[in-house]
Amino acid sequence: MMELITGFSKKSKKEKIEWLVATHLDNNPDVIKTLHQYWNDDKELQKLHDGFIENTISNYYLPLAIAPNFLINNKPYTIPMVIEESSVVAAASYSAKFWLEKGGFTSEVISTIKNGQVHLNYYGNDSTIQSFFKEVKPKLFASISGIEANMKKRGGGLLDIILKNSTEALEGYYQLHCTFETNDAMGANFINTCLETIAKTFKFEAGIYSSFTENNSVPEIVISILSNYVPECLVKAQVQCPVEQLTAEGIDGKVFAEKFIRAIAIANTETRRAVTHNKGIMNGIDAVVIATGNDFRSIEAGVHAYASRSGHYKSLTNASIENGIFTYSIEIPMALGTVGGMTGLHPLAKLGLSILQNPSANELMQIIAVAGLAQNFAALRALTTTGIQKGHMKMHLKNILTQLNATPTEIEKTVHYFEEHTVSHSDVVNFVNELRK
Ligand code: MEV
Repeated sequence: MMELITGFSKKSKKEKIEWLVATHLDNNPDVIKTLHQYWNDDKELQKLHDGFIENTISNYYLPLAIAPNFLINNKPYTIPMVIEESSVVAAASYSAKFWLEKGGFTSEVISTIKNGQVHLNYYGNDSTIQSFFKEVKPKLFASISGIEANMKKRGGGLLDIILKNSTEALEGYYQLHCTFETNDAMGANFINTCLETIAKTFKFEAGIYSSFTENNSVPEIVISILSNYVPECLVKAQVQCPVEQLTAEGIDGKVFAEKFIRAIAIANTETRRAVTHNKGIMNGIDAVVIATGNDFRSIEAGVHAYASRSGHYKSLTNASIENGIFTYSIEIPMALGTVGGMTGLHPLAKLGLSILQNPSANELMQIIAVAGLAQNFAALRALTTTGIQKGHMKMHLKNILTQLNATPTEIEKTVHYFEEHTVSHSDVVNFVNELRK
């Protein structure tokens, strides 16, 4: 039987670590050393990080990198990326440079509406709840007037509330579908506060509505929460060039373009490929989302739902050739903030936004869509030409040489040798050891 630990959150950090090391890690002293190594020497900064989540024992670092040379809507950007996977930043930089030479990326925000629902149980007459809703709707709006006052001043707030009868999908299931504009804020807290207040008002008014009470059919609130599926908060990014300019790895532009388009057609047909294809896109998207202090889980969940909107999980990117012009684009939903939450708290998130010249949420949507498109372009270029292992192994080789503390001469000789030989950890170690004899 597992022993329950109570009052854990009230223990000090030291006590939590001692408990962990004693109960899970054989009292290994190295563990404490490792945890300490990742603490911030600056006590104030460490306090800030400890405040983000609960039960902290250390900090978990991820590398922060930059990908230069992005031209988006004729504006130059250097994009900050936080990711642990090698080759991703190199791939983004490659795409940025490739498309810079062809006029860069264009990107546009299609719409910015966010949404949330109050999910209800109601087993009475449909016409009764519809009449009730008509009467109560102004009161629902009025109930959040204080909450949305500031948001309204900035041109945002609650846009509409619709009562949806979803009983065909699930017996007795109704929802108040609420739409919002949250400007530069991601708006999760704002939306959830509005929804809970709307739900409370709805419940109170329903409880005194005689047509419900007399028929013993008062609607009941189940849950009130924002949706991370935001297909009305949509951004599109695109590149174009004459097909003959699309040469890659010495392959003719038309041949490359056709293979590229075929690779997307395969992703649109085969879910197994589409998931990996879109994972590559998310390599770029998540890295910038994290670097700018946004919530990558919400973006991930929403993007994959969008990829399945036809009922079949498909590629998030599209490509075509028309009149000799290659057009390649991405369209994705994305609820982002450039104010509030982590964006204002985490010093590196603030820095990430500064590197991007403090964009609005709309501009950030455009930048991040471009990062996803760029990542997919680099992946498909590699996959349809040399394969991805060549680039990966080059990075892998560098990592091994770093681990071996190789000198510049050793690096030069090893890199030269492995241009013609397959990289494996043991072969590189043996080769360097031979050099050192
Ligand atoms: C690896 O992280 C991402 C790729 O697998 C994406 C793809 O296959 O398109 C290279």
